[in-house]
Amino acid sequence: MMGKPLRIAIDGPAASGKSALAQRLAAHLGYAYVDTGAMYRAVTWAALNKGIPLTDEDAMTRLAESLDLDILPPTVADGRPYTVQVEGMDVTWALRSPEVEAAVSQVSAYPGVRRALAHRQRQIGLRGRVVMVGRDIGTVILPEADLKLYLDADLKTRAQRRYQELRDRGEIVSFEEILEAIQRRDALDQGREVAPLRPAPDAIVLDTTAMNIEEVFHRVRLLIEEQCQETTHVAG
Ligand code: DC
Repeated sequence: MMGKPLRIAIDGPAASGKSALAQRLAAHLGYAYVDTGAMYRAVTWAALNKGIPLTDEDAMTRLAESLDLDILPPTVADGRPYTVQVEGMDVTWALRSPEVEAAVSQVSAYPGVRRALAHRQRQIGLRGRVVMVGRDIGTVILPEADLKLYLDADLKTRAQRRYQELRDRGEIVSFEEILEAIQRRDALDQGREVAPLRPAPDAIVLDTTAMNIEEVFHRVRLLIEEQCQETTHVAG
């Protein structure tokens, strides 16, 4: 690798701080921030909206293959990191509803759904200058990424972060409910047959349990600087 990493992959379980880190990194480097989880959420939202049974794997696959789905820079200044449109409709916040949250792991376990979205994701990733976030970016979508990070944190800490995030948005939720939902999602994401959540062999694993986002961002900036110096040194 020469100079700055052009493709950065960030994976890890729910609420491990992936998207907060990715947004800061992307802004810092002038790269695109691509949240692949939003694509699985969009397919899930569309199925719920259209009344397609989530258990119908073939129908879900066809939906993922054909859905008119766009991820754009923010179109409204309400704190959103991007805008997601499904068939021209702004569904950005709808993707965060408990209904989508509860169903998305089931949808993302279908091989056909993954194949359809992986194709779209890889095309975006290959353009470079991208910070891509998900569960299988380092292992499946962009195995050639220049920098692979795997963020983790203990369950209670992650539940606490997600709980705070939802409360800050004015949603009424209980901590226990959030903890259980995250636990359920972790089990499904890690246990599925296709592209299960796990660190790539060459990923740098960061345990963020005792770190805040600024500390994580700082650590990763140092890592990138070190990588840059090493390559310059070897090349020179
Ligand atoms: O990161 P998130 O919470 O928005 O992801 C939503 C769901 O999508 C999550 O339960 C797992 C799935 N997902 C996936 O399987 N692969 C990805 N690359 C991104 C998300």
